[in-house]
Amino acid sequence: MYLLIPAAGSGKRMGGDRNKLLLSLLDQPILWWTLKAAIASDAIEWIGIICQPIDRPDFEGIVAALKAPKPVVFIQGGDTRQESVYNGLQRLPEGAQRVLIHDGARCLATAELFDRCASVLQGCAGLIAAVPVKDTIKVVEDFDKNGSDRPEVASTPDRSKLWAAQTPQGFEVATLKDAHSRGVREKWAVTDDAALFEKCGLSVRIVEGEETNLKVTTPQDLAIAEFILRQRHPQS
Ligand code: C5P
Repeated sequence: MYLLIPAAGSGKRMGGDRNKLLLSLLDQPILWWTLKAAIASDAIEWIGIICQPIDRPDFEGIVAALKAPKPVVFIQGGDTRQESVYNGLQRLPEGAQRVLIHDGARCLATAELFDRCASVLQGCAGLIAAVPVKDTIKVVEDFDKNGSDRPEVASTPDRSKLWAAQTPQGFEVATLKDAHSRGVREKWAVTDDAALFEKCGLSVRIVEGEETNLKVTTPQDLAIAEFILRQRHPQS
C-alpha cells in the first residue's frame, strides 16, 4: 500500500512561524511520531512526504533518524492541502492502484489503524477513518446575516448521523486523480479528499477510527497529545 503524508502546512494556528510538524512532542518532532506509526504498519510499503522546500532538510533528518526500512520520497507541497495532495498523486510510482492519505499532523494514529484502512481498501474505492461525534453540533448562521453582534443557531443536525472525519483516508488512485482534476476544473475547495469523492457522487466507506487520533492544531492539542503518548510510553 502506498501512503501520502501531507506535511506542507504552516504553524499559524499553533502561533508559530515554522511548520508545526517540527514542534517537539516528548522530545521528538511531531512528524517523527506520524512516520514511526506509518513505518510500523506492515501494510505500508512506500511513503511520500509532501512538504515545502524550506522544511525538507529538517524532514530528511527525521527520516534518517528513523532508519525507515521502506522507500520514503519527498514531494513539493502546494498552497493548500488540496493542492499538496494533488501534487502527491502525480508523484506516485507508476502502477500504484490504491493509496492512503494521512495528515502529518495526526501524529497519534496507530500502525493498527493504517493496517485496518489498508485492508478495507482492498474491497472498496474510497474510505475514511472516522468516529461518531459526541457533542451536539449546531449549524450557525453567517455572522453578518442576522443583524446582531452574535452568531445565531440555524439548526441542529441529527447527531446519530454525524461522524468526525479523520485520516487515513484511502482511495483507488485513478478515481481519486480524476476527482482531484475535476476539483481543479470546477474550482472546488475542500478540506479532505473524501469530499471530492462525494462531490463526484462516489461512495466513501467508514472505517472505525481512533478517539486518540487527534489532529494537532493548537497548543492545547499538543498538551493532550503529550499526555496520551506518556500513557503509551510510561518510560519517556
Ligand atoms: O492545517 P491543517 O492542520 O488542517 O492541515 C492538515 C494537514 O495538511 C497537515 O498535516 C498539513 O501539514 C497539511 N498541509 C499541506 N499543504 C498545505 C496545507 C496543509 O500538506 N498547503
